[in-house]
Amino acid sequence: MKDILSIIVALAIAVTSFGQEAVVGSWLFAPAPREMSEMADEAFVLQPATVINCPEELREQARLLSDLMEPAVGRNLPVSDGSHAINLRLDSSLGAVLKGFQQKECYHLTVTRQGVTLTGATPVGVLRGIQTLVKALPAGTEPDRLVALPGGEIFDYPEYEYRAFLLDCGRHFFPLPTLKKIIDILALHQLNEFHWHLTEDQGWRLEIKRYPRLTEVGSWRAGSPVPGQEGHDGVPVSGLYTQEEAREIVAYADARGIEVIPEIDMPGHMKAALASYPDLGCTGGPYEVACEYGVLDDVLCVGKESSLEFVYNVLDEVMDIFPSRYIHLGGDECPKGRWEACPHCQARILALGLQTSGAMTAEELLQSWFLDRMAERIEARGRRVIVWNDALLGWDNIVSGAPSKQTVIAGWMRPVSSEIAVREGYDAIICPVGHLYLSAADGNRLKGEAYLRRVYDLPVPPVSLSEVEKDRILGVEACLWTERVADEELLLWELLPRLSAVAELQWSDPASRDFDAFLSRIIRMESLYTARGWSWNAAE
Ligand code: ACM
Ligand code: ZN
Repeated sequence: MKDILSIIVALAIAVTSFGQEAVVGSWLFAPAPREMSEMADEAFVLQPATVINCPEELREQARLLSDLMEPAVGRNLPVSDGSHAINLRLDSSLGAVLKGFQQKECYHLTVTRQGVTLTGATPVGVLRGIQTLVKALPAGTEPDRLVALPGGEIFDYPEYEYRAFLLDCGRHFFPLPTLKKIIDILALHQLNEFHWHLTEDQGWRLEIKRYPRLTEVGSWRAGSPVPGQEGHDGVPVSGLYTQEEAREIVAYADARGIEVIPEIDMPGHMKAALASYPDLGCTGGPYEVACEYGVLDDVLCVGKESSLEFVYNVLDEVMDIFPSRYIHLGGDECPKGRWEACPHCQARILALGLQTSGAMTAEELLQSWFLDRMAERIEARGRRVIVWNDALLGWDNIVSGAPSKQTVIAGWMRPVSSEIAVREGYDAIICPVGHLYLSAADGNRLKGEAYLRRVYDLPVPPVSLSEVEKDRILGVEACLWTERVADEELLLWELLPRLSAVAELQWSDPASRDFDAFLSRIIRMESLYTARGWSWNAAE
């Protein structure tokens, strides 16, 4: 099946009016567009005279298109006037009947022998159409080859407004070139959110100017655990992003229509911060940046006023760097043992009058109180907070009213976690561990179709929700945790091609979900990955 399809793709030929032959690309790619009609015999051949034509406000997008097409076309198309052209246009009335977020990203594309016209309702819509054009070109680079875009018409827009991918840079550090490659990959799959997990027990990666020890001390650890053995491997892991570098990533993503959402995980998963400033913990330490994985006992002391000041100051710097609509506060996996024994935390519980009630202990209520204080700081600057669902549920229980209803809940623990959050009146994100955690805890990846199906067959939207409740699902997120992912090669191996399945859950029409049709798109996506040098199968 794979070989036959690639031969079919490779043999599609168009003939120019000068009698030259051109290799035609294909409309087979993921995520599947909404409305598409193919027009045989209408392939647009990219000739020496072809240009990209655009109004002044789309020049940056035009240059990006030129750069992205260069490997397949063999040269950069000039951005200029010309009669044989790919025309980029803006039309704010396009998709006027769609939901607001859908209209923002919608685009209309026509490809005929005479020319290509890509219209977006906004510049972001144009960016989405650009990725479609790039995927429709033949894969790979060959000298002196003429290439053509297949003829057809597409009208396309996303199912969800929140289409995210999380990369854990706490357990392992990934340098800027890798992050830019990941952002290129997200853009190709029409994702719009890069969730950057920047702080962990095992490493604090973001420079905070007011607290330099966070990266001087917190960005280095002595080693990583070895499965089945005591202690760690003695191989140091380190790395940090300066604020300037973080801004560079924000700008790089923004040019591709992707928002960067920083996560500063709290009050658990903060051992690297505690190692840097021991007074942040309940016992005062000493602490070490963790060389073990899992859920650790030492967490932020939220009884001390100085801890709250610390987090406020960190968040202020974070919001200065990241203009994102959302700030992720974690809120997951925070054991309460230290708080139970801490005079500061117990004094705070007393002062607030928090009492164990129903399913919620006084310490769990203290966590909700703490997260709500941080949320106030964030909301005061017009941003919205996301937390993992254990901030809402305790470990497995439903608790009403905590945290604030403004908070977005990322349902990771079970497939129903996001449904429960929606029923409690929250907006929610679907990211269940069993389906959308792309990294296997033991470092093994499911092979073959089974591992694609695990993602693709997740019922999105959940069938049990009413139409009104479904509107509270903001979107879908895939997460890549890096306990066992130490380098770019393993990262790409975990990510691809499953991101294509994730992208279809996020973008495509749920009514047209069809696994066999999806497989034919995957085969072509794999050839596009290979052509770009993305090592999707190198670790097999
Ligand atoms: C999580 O996996 N602790 C969000
Ligand atoms: Zn404490």
